[in-house]
Amino acid sequence: MKTADKEWFKRLWVEMNDRQAAVWDRHIVPAIGAIRGRLIELVDLKPGERVLDVGTGTGAVAFDAARKVGADGRVAGIDTSPRMLKRAREKAAKSGLKSVEFRKMNSSSLDWPDESFDAVISCLGQPEAPWDVRPACAEWHRILVPGGRLAICTEAEDPFPAQFQEVFARYKVRTPSRKLAERRRLSSGVSREADRIPGARLLEDAGFVDVRRSVESFQVFIPARAQLELLLTWGLDYEEYSELAPSVRHRFRTEASEAIRPFETVKGVMNFASACKAGN
Ligand SMILES: C[S@@+](CC[C@H](N)C(=O)[O-])C[C@H]1O[C@@H](n2cnc3c(N)ncnc32)[C@H](O)[C@@H]1O
Repeated sequence: MKTADKEWFKRLWVEMNDRQAAVWDRHIVPAIGAIRGRLIELVDLKPGERVLDVGTGTGAVAFDAARKVGADGRVAGIDTSPRMLKRAREKAAKSGLKSVEFRKMNSSSLDWPDESFDAVISCLGQPEAPWDVRPACAEWHRILVPGGRLAICTEAEDPFPAQFQEVFARYKVRTPSRKLAERRRLSSGVSREADRIPGARLLEDAGFVDVRRSVESFQVFIPARAQLELLLTWGLDYEEYSELAPSVRHRFRTEASEAIRPFETVKGVMNFASACKAGN
């Protein structure tokens, strides 16, 4: 992909996460507590440890980690989305937790010296830009102390009902504007890049040892209107939706909500991976 296209994708990524900050915090954070719990269990935090939460969003995992490491520990949550971070900081101020800080930073380029953390965690917060994935793994390894631990989770399957995409396909814009045509072209370029990343060995290639993986399922309740909001504020769907005429949008929303309603309780199938940096 051309450098200019990559820069475009990075900006788009921030915009998309900014658009989702409110619905994520209100509906998804409360729905995925069990997934966060499993992640925290895997990384086995101890009082006094220093923890990095990658793609912290509105800070939910960082707060769970801060409670584990206690007042003598430190937790840093990083994210590229200003709106997610704004919510995280507001919640930190309300919680009174002093050991947690939030910083705007890309996980593929971390602003800390080598061996600054005892643990790295990430709940659905890894970089999505395919060209950032390898540098991010290398950065997590670099900033861990020898013997430091990593635990991450990603979606194994798209949790949202395919029925939504069927409705969307019927409403797909037939004569797109130049902007939408360009977005379609760029999005398919990003998908092709992503296909080239060999997922399974990324952590080993970055130098991690004792890599363990598991696939686990969770029942997650997400109200239909929140699912619709998530789907319509994301990626190419957002661009397509924005080009529907207002009267068509209304019909589309009604149809899509009805298609989603039977799937408010979704099966969240998650990939977990834990690993260590070699050393003590
Ligand atoms: C699906 S949300 C997960 C938020 C949070 N971990 C949680 O469990 O509630 C993913 C977050 O990762 C952030 N993110 C994506 N790519 C990133 C990157 N390269 N560096 C830092 N944050 C990133 C997004 O901005 C978004 O806030």
